[in-house]
Amino acid sequence: MGMALAGLILLGVAAPPATADDTVELSVDASKTGAKIDRNIFGQFAEHLGHGIYGGIWVGPDSKIPNTRGIRNDVVAALKALKVPNVRWPGGCFADEYHWRQGIGPADQRAVTLNPNWGGVVEPNTFGVDEFMDFLGQIGSEPYLSVNVGSGTPREAAEWLEYMTAAQPTTLAQERAANGHPDPYEVPYLGIGNESWDCGGNMSPDYYLSQLKIYARFVRNFNPAQQEGDRRMLRVAVGPGGDGPRWTDWTETIMKGWQGHSWSWDMEGLSMHSYTVVQWPPAYASVGFGEREYSEILKSTLDMDQLIATHSAIMDKYDPDKKIALVVDEWGAWYAPLPGSNPGFLVQQNSQRDAVLAALNLNIFARHADRVRGANIAQMVNVLQAMIMTDEAKMVLTPTYYVFKMYVPFQDATFVPVSFDAGSYTYGDVTLPRVDAIAAKGMDGKLWLAVTNVDPHQPATIEVGVAGVTAHTASGETLTAPKVDSVNSFEAPDTVVPKPISASVQDGKLALTVAPKSVTVLSVE
Ligand code: AHR
Repeated sequence: MGMALAGLILLGVAAPPATADDTVELSVDASKTGAKIDRNIFGQFAEHLGHGIYGGIWVGPDSKIPNTRGIRNDVVAALKALKVPNVRWPGGCFADEYHWRQGIGPADQRAVTLNPNWGGVVEPNTFGVDEFMDFLGQIGSEPYLSVNVGSGTPREAAEWLEYMTAAQPTTLAQERAANGHPDPYEVPYLGIGNESWDCGGNMSPDYYLSQLKIYARFVRNFNPAQQEGDRRMLRVAVGPGGDGPRWTDWTETIMKGWQGHSWSWDMEGLSMHSYTVVQWPPAYASVGFGEREYSEILKSTLDMDQLIATHSAIMDKYDPDKKIALVVDEWGAWYAPLPGSNPGFLVQQNSQRDAVLAALNLNIFARHADRVRGANIAQMVNVLQAMIMTDEAKMVLTPTYYVFKMYVPFQDATFVPVSFDAGSYTYGDVTLPRVDAIAAKGMDGKLWLAVTNVDPHQPATIEVGVAGVTAHTASGETLTAPKVDSVNSFEAPDTVVPKPISASVQDGKLALTVAPKSVTVLSVE
């Protein structure tokens, strides 16, 4: 369902499509609340891939780049501001070749291995389990571990979890203590394999279901104290990777298998991967593109809505109470590698187009908040649609970073329906909803509104009728850029940065004009 349609259905009336000059009328009724927008939809993904970990997060304790126990201070400070709820690690495809024991203990005694998925480079294993947990402690986040189903064993994965969670003095818990962490770690999110239909082992849905039952049985949280109240480990099964019968069959098989599950195994989430790519292998340039590529990429990204609807409908058949979360644990734009970069490192630029793309996807997740309770953008640093790019000691924050920062108030906020006629923006044979908007009641008690103007030429005048709260002021930040492919570079890091914006408020109604190709987040008080 397109966003324009979504707006009309909420209104319950048919309205003629808006033209570019029309004011967009938004109605927000704060007394009508929906599902909680789980903070975990703002999750991140950090794989051992290119400079995603080495150089991007980990520089080692002896580096001249300022670091704390080997972890870059500048990257940590930037990520802290995003309140990253969870980080999915160590992959991706890498996860199904990762053997966790090679990444623990004294650094100089660790195995040096290879990373055949991503450029065949040497994997020094100097960033391992304890370094990952240290990194999470520094940024204030939680682990979403992907265990190795493809080339590992249930025993290896179970021992990893014992190393992490056991409180009693087992040999593995003592090993953890000897490695500097006497207290058990918590593992709130556990991925059982990655893309097991492809790089994770080319399994059929039935074969994977058998593996899932074994892993979900034996790979436990070994710490009863971590299972009290709401605290438990959410197990996420491998889910679909697209649309069409192959993928709906996958979702059917896993959900049907779960519906008939016995006391001895269970799962709490089903993953879904969906990249915005248009053409495979990725061919669209991440910088130096024009309006055609802007409109085509954004059209493609909006398919996320239908994809979620399709797989949610299957999940509803087997799980009408929505116990199982849909976790979109890999999403984002995947472009052609930057010229001159190692193609196995998935290096791409990040432009204002990506900021708009990120906001549109976050809005889709928020509208499906009753089922989508986790998502992880790919990836965190230096890889694909990254938050942060680094080059040796230099660091730059991307337009996508700023969208995640502006959306922090939506973490664990309560969805508030917004009705509007989005109008349309057309380029060639591509027509898109011109604006998009979501609203939510934040944990801070404020009403928050996010408005995206997709049109790269026309500003949009927005009028917001607010019911359910009395609006006195509305202010926040807006992110736009000179061109659709404007980026932040090491030389010019502030080309795309948020600027303050406020709406005029009269008789409880807000009015503001948002710039072309912009993302705006406001609080209404
Ligand atoms: O994010 C890059 C890769 O994309 C991941 O390793 C894999 O899971 C997916 O195919």
